[in-house]
Amino acid sequence: MKAQRVLVAGGAGYIGSHAAKALHREGREPIVFDNLSTGHADSVKWGPLVEGDIRDAEAVRAAIREYKPDAVMHFAAKIEVGESEAKPLMYYDNNVAGVLNLVRVMMEEGVDKFVFSSTCAIYGDPEKLPLTEDQPKRPVSVYGRSKLMAEQILESVSKANGLKFTALRYFNAAGADLDAETGERHDPETHLIPNAIGAAIGRGGPMKFFGDDYPTRDGSCERDYIHVSDLADAHILAADKLMQGEQKLQLNLGTGQGRTVLEVLKAVETATGRKVPYEIAPRRAGDAIALYADTTLSREKLGWTPKVSDIDTIVSSAWAFHRKTWGVE
Ligand code: UFG
Repeated sequence: MKAQRVLVAGGAGYIGSHAAKALHREGREPIVFDNLSTGHADSVKWGPLVEGDIRDAEAVRAAIREYKPDAVMHFAAKIEVGESEAKPLMYYDNNVAGVLNLVRVMMEEGVDKFVFSSTCAIYGDPEKLPLTEDQPKRPVSVYGRSKLMAEQILESVSKANGLKFTALRYFNAAGADLDAETGERHDPETHLIPNAIGAAIGRGGPMKFFGDDYPTRDGSCERDYIHVSDLADAHILAADKLMQGEQKLQLNLGTGQGRTVLEVLKAVETATGRKVPYEIAPRRAGDAIALYADTTLSREKLGWTPKVSDIDTIVSSAWAFHRKTWGVE
């Protein structure tokens, strides 16, 4: 059995819009539910848009009653670590209370399958690399804590009330749809690849390079960049697993390979054919030295392997998208 009709909360955003496209490609029906606070109405191209907030029980209920989804994928979250430290109430309200509300209404309406966007930020500073799912969860930011709390809520509801869920712990979501039909459009943008591309084309001055004195092979932080379209595919596999009776899966989604900031900048220079001007800045608060996933469990449980997550494909797809949206020659 497959998840045929899926309510995609946050489907107008970066990862959610890629999931909507992937669902449509697979012959499923994505119904986007989004308050458009950070998402974009023009990223909703593969199914209807229901404008609403996950914290509004009656809006969620109306959408579920109208469309009767088999499952819910949940991408509607606040995602900035720095902002989360300054605005904890906003983060707990959206990322914790929002999930609570969404899941409560789902259960009341008889929808019991939930695919949740989690993050490697729930682990905090890793004890050892690559990161396995069973490592201690010691988030160092409000953002990471909000996602961990949401996972804990899902575990309790699963145990007590039979909710079936997967928590997909993304490493660094990056890149854009290979047809450049959707991509990353955060405002303000904090992520490395769009910022490096912006700097390469002279948008907003040189990039700030946060710390060149880390104990890594070249002094810069190491991350596991995973293509957003590979993430989208994993969501469909996860939803189908729940349809087949899986009760609970908590999985890392990454490639298993770390890339340093300098290596990413090099890939950006290759893709764009331009230099990335940058200035060395102090380390950014909360940045871990290195983070990369052990991907054994996601491969085993979902039968998922990343297909387009080599760094050059990630960067060239992001470049093609930004070129189009920023109108670069
Ligand atoms: N970086 C820069 N300059 C920039 C942007 C980033 O040097 O302008 C560096 C960062 O210091 C870091 C690396 O590039 O070393 C990657 O930074 P990103 O902001 O792109 O990604 P993060 O690893 O900080 O964030 C990701 C997810 C978050 C999640 C976090 C958990 O995007 O949602 O991992 O660690 F919370």
